[in-house]
Amino acid sequence: MKIKDINKEDLVIQPIENADTIPASWYTSKEIYDFEISHLINSEWQYVGNFSQIPSIGDYFLFEISGKPILVVRSDDKTIKAFYNVCRHRGGPLALENGSCKLFQCKYHGWTYKLDGSLHKTPQFGPVENFNKDEFGLVPVNLDIWENLIFTMINNPSVNIQKIMSGVKDRIQPINLSDKKFYKRVHYSVNCNWKVYVDNYLEGYHLNFVHPSLSKLLIPSEYKTEVSEFYSLQYSPLKDDANFYGEGNAYYYFIFPNIMLNILPGRLQVNLVQPISIDKTIVIFDYFYDDIHSTLNVKKIEEDIKLSDEIQLEDIMICEKVQKGLLSGAYNKGRISPQSELGVYHFQSHLKRKFKTHIE
Ligand code: FES
Ligand SMILES: [Fe+2]
Repeated sequence: MKIKDINKEDLVIQPIENADTIPASWYTSKEIYDFEISHLINSEWQYVGNFSQIPSIGDYFLFEISGKPILVVRSDDKTIKAFYNVCRHRGGPLALENGSCKLFQCKYHGWTYKLDGSLHKTPQFGPVENFNKDEFGLVPVNLDIWENLIFTMINNPSVNIQKIMSGVKDRIQPINLSDKKFYKRVHYSVNCNWKVYVDNYLEGYHLNFVHPSLSKLLIPSEYKTEVSEFYSLQYSPLKDDANFYGEGNAYYYFIFPNIMLNILPGRLQVNLVQPISIDKTIVIFDYFYDDIHSTLNVKKIEEDIKLSDEIQLEDIMICEKVQKGLLSGAYNKGRISPQSELGVYHFQSHLKRKFKTHIE
């Protein structure tokens, strides 16, 4: 496969001291965007939700990956299954919103499906010939689970999510992610290419300029980045005064290509960066905490969410300005800071490797 918008020399991975940033055209080309959807977004695990959304048999929630409607359900045997939310009759939806049911009934002409996806009944349909109901079950979607978090993939996986996340649980001890309870989901819409948002997440270089309140919480001189095969990690000790999280580290994990785990004492925040179009991105924030019931903790939670929201609006502002800068014609490639942009370098190098394996 050839992509005309990519020059071969831009795929070279230079040592970080010599590294250029990826070209502006990679953030604005429709051809590259389409390629990324099929080879990255649809070919890597995507975080879709968590156990606590579907605690009982028949509970389900809806999600979309690159516009494809997906249904995740707690099935009869208590296992979690994912299907396309697409009826095998003429493509209608089985569900229009999250809920709970014993059978799925298509909202178009009423075909019913069991929770394991098999076709149950086709009312007022016959007589038909050569119609085998067993061949008309819901189409399954690949699913995997890690620490009570649910991931799905459109194309067939080559690596499971445990392998991708290996090392995370040990690194963050004594924090245990599977203890955390889901509190709420927030969506942010950002007018930029999804990679602008990811690049921005991957460095603390902008903290002093864009996030004055966050730089009061972390210790900039001890802010570090580590990289490994499937993810990068930025971390910093928290300042022990004036923060409501308590003692410990802030860990910011980025799992290629678009998942973030933001872990602080007592709190997990999972982000999914969803490309919607070349210059539109939705970022999902799922908030989890150790204790979501006591009055004191709920007060802390609300403070945490307020601070995250403030930081997010600052990031959105800068990302939207950067998108305009990339489109301006005044910028092609910049340079990477070896001191402060290892995470960006790691992400952009991964991207080049992916492009390379599919292009040559
Ligand atoms: S499309 Fe589902 S019953 Fe017709
Ligand atoms: Fe930021």
